[in-house]
Amino acid sequence: MSFLPKPHGGKLVDAFNPNYNVTEVVKDIEIDAIALSDLELIGIGLFSPLTGFLGKEDYDSVVENMRLANNTIWSIPVTLPVSYETAETLSVGEEFKLTYGGEVYGVIKVSEWYEPDLEKEALNVYRTTELAHPGVKRLFERGPVYVAGDVVLVKKSDKGVFGDVWFEPKETRALFEEKGWKTIVGFQTRNPIHRAHEYIQKAALETVDGLFVNPLVGETKSDDVPAEVRLKSYRVLLDHYYPKERVQLGVYPAAMRYAGPREAIFHAIARKNFGCTHFIVGRDHAGVGNYYGTYDAQHIFSNFTEEELGIKPLFFEHSFYCTKCEGMASDKTCPHGKEDRVILSGTKVREMLRAGVLPPSTFSRKEVVEVLIEGMREKTTV
Ligand code: ADX
Repeated sequence: MSFLPKPHGGKLVDAFNPNYNVTEVVKDIEIDAIALSDLELIGIGLFSPLTGFLGKEDYDSVVENMRLANNTIWSIPVTLPVSYETAETLSVGEEFKLTYGGEVYGVIKVSEWYEPDLEKEALNVYRTTELAHPGVKRLFERGPVYVAGDVVLVKKSDKGVFGDVWFEPKETRALFEEKGWKTIVGFQTRNPIHRAHEYIQKAALETVDGLFVNPLVGETKSDDVPAEVRLKSYRVLLDHYYPKERVQLGVYPAAMRYAGPREAIFHAIARKNFGCTHFIVGRDHAGVGNYYGTYDAQHIFSNFTEEELGIKPLFFEHSFYCTKCEGMASDKTCPHGKEDRVILSGTKVREMLRAGVLPPSTFSRKEVVEVLIEGMREKTTV
């Protein structure tokens, strides 16, 4: 008997078929890096129950109600945008190769295409239409027509440096079972792991069997620390400070949407598909700039019952090192004032790293900082 949660919608989607006969498919659609990632994640079941890119009924329902048309919770539209010119070549029921960089990665059987109301999608999903928001900017840049239909993944992407930490949901589920973990907490991050991240992860790990450190390595905005550099920093941190038998590192190869609250739900569902029973949501989860309130990504979970969501969110307050407590803390556990707290913004830390200035060890472990400075140096000399 398995203690792991059922995949979202009941079963893991498996739309991978490397033997699919693509030579019979004549026309193609060139897709971008985000669509390529979405295609693969649909194909391997990380986005279960999705079997393709959303049709209009599902899309409208997700945008308006955070649910697919059949009422299953789903908070972020997964769509395939194309230009008007490409839309002219489409016909319902026809198959199209999905190509990236001249290679065929999948096939879509077109069920329909439609023009989305991007203003409405931006407002409902991102809570803003400002182009300064990186997710909204991308939304408006990506294309005016959405093509819908079930997909077949015919080729998986090259995993590069991520090879040994790139797991499919069926693999993570098998891994967790093998380790005998009954409760597993998933941790999303798009940043290096700093002391506050480590603190909330370990606080969670005190009450569950295993921790799945699951950094996002898909597309991020250009000033986020590159995924390859972050990966090195995760490895060194885990080697020095985490108990091997209770922690598993594995990447989350999706694109970052920066959709704050809605993305927290999306992140939780994907981690459920990986087999996690719990999911950490801290301060301004998946947020950017000042678009979301500090705890909006926690409040949004009150729209759903835990039973329906199928994964338990674990909420954490804004954490920091307090020089008076001489340890990590939050407002919940520390009575001291601002002047005693080591709090640095992501932007500030990136500035320090670029200038070769070490953030204090109360903010980030020395081993992590060294890797990041080295990575930044390599990046700027390329
Ligand atoms: S995110 O875009 O992936 O959410 P980040 O990597 O900064 O950004 O955060 C990863 C997770 O740690 C999120 O759940 C976030 O809410 C949480 N988090 C980040 N910093 C803190 C902090 N200082 N205190 C509490 N939680 C935090």
